[in-house]
Amino acid sequence: MERGGAAVEEAIQLADRVNRISVSPTMAVMAAAEQLKAKGVDVADFGAGEPDFPTPEHIKRAAIKALEENRTKYTATPGIAPLRQAICDWHAAQLGSSYQPSECIVNVGGKHAIFNAICSLVNGGDEVVIPAPYWVSYPDIVKYAGGKPVIVETREQDGFALQAADLERAITSKTRVVIVNSPSNPAGAVIPNAEFEKILGVCQKKGVWLLSDECYSHFTYGDAKPFSIASVPGSKSRLIIAGSCSKTFAMTGWRIGYVLAPAPLIGAIGKLQSQSTSNPTSIAQYAALEALRGPMEGVGAMLAEYARRRERIVAGLRSIPGITCTAPQGAFYVFPNVSKHYRGDMQGDTAVAKGLLDKAHVAVVPGEAFGAPGYIRMSYATSMDRIEEGLRRLERFFSEGK
Ligand SMILES: Cc1ncc(COP(=O)(O)O)c(C=O)c1O
Repeated sequence: MERGGAAVEEAIQLADRVNRISVSPTMAVMAAAEQLKAKGVDVADFGAGEPDFPTPEHIKRAAIKALEENRTKYTATPGIAPLRQAICDWHAAQLGSSYQPSECIVNVGGKHAIFNAICSLVNGGDEVVIPAPYWVSYPDIVKYAGGKPVIVETREQDGFALQAADLERAITSKTRVVIVNSPSNPAGAVIPNAEFEKILGVCQKKGVWLLSDECYSHFTYGDAKPFSIASVPGSKSRLIIAGSCSKTFAMTGWRIGYVLAPAPLIGAIGKLQSQSTSNPTSIAQYAALEALRGPMEGVGAMLAEYARRRERIVAGLRSIPGITCTAPQGAFYVFPNVSKHYRGDMQGDTAVAKGLLDKAHVAVVPGEAFGAPGYIRMSYATSMDRIEEGLRRLERFFSEGK
């Protein structure tokens, strides 16, 4: 008797809220790359959305100490009091904001922070404006909450940074939230400070919430510097900051993120959290406390290494005929345009990504996954050796058929 997964799934009537969303397309690419690797194939993997560095020693030691001290019980739902204070202090010192612990909640990663904020604010039919290229989870989180994602295109010549004028045109009477992500995944776009203030002004004028995802705040290059819109006087009343320890401190597996927002919204998120995850893992909270209170030198060292790799990968990609590549201003991704290389049955960036994986054993994520056809995302959170090897393979792949 055939009891295949698909047949069983068909028989189960799932809730609409789950049927509205899909599994992250970046996961699908990673899975295909993993399958090849499991067969022993040497894959040059540019798919990873996480730092390749280990969590710094002093942070790991804080977690070990927490274990030894038996800090293994439930904590308060919004996180331990010293961590909420440390998040406010760190954000004030690093990014110039002024939040109190009552305006802060600790979540199970930045994704959970965004999920909880959207679920606490968005009603069925509400619109949420999302600039493209976007991080894959935003539209699905909005759809899960019953809202409608409204996508605003950004331009390659603007470095994919959202312009306030484009945002203003997209806002309707149904708009509830605008999501911005600077530096961005996938394009490394950084919104210039003055433009960011204009975006805030548009949101305030229209009475909509601005959700700023700061998960890559400390990875900026050249003239771009870490910046939070929360540092602007008068910004806080309809502003939500979503932050994370994942990228800044190489702590993706620990699952610690946070929201900074007006206290009533924090209360609502706490209520939602109290009926779902409860507190984030106690031990991870103590590790995050050390991350935020301890030395920041490790972050600078990671940034310096990302900067070196960024130079190399941008130069390498630009030297391949037919490829254009804006220099990312932040995060650890490049987002080259590969559309000039469509040929034969390789039409579209998904086909390019598939061809790259199958024929050149290079793993990248197609731009379509981020609402930006024509591009591929490559993470340079990988060693310089792998970058060199990957560039050689890309050059060979794209010069075939010319
Ligand atoms: C733009 C962006 N926001 C938020 C996150 C969430 O990260 P985490 O849930 O690990 O904090 C990610 C992770 O890839 C991201 O790229």
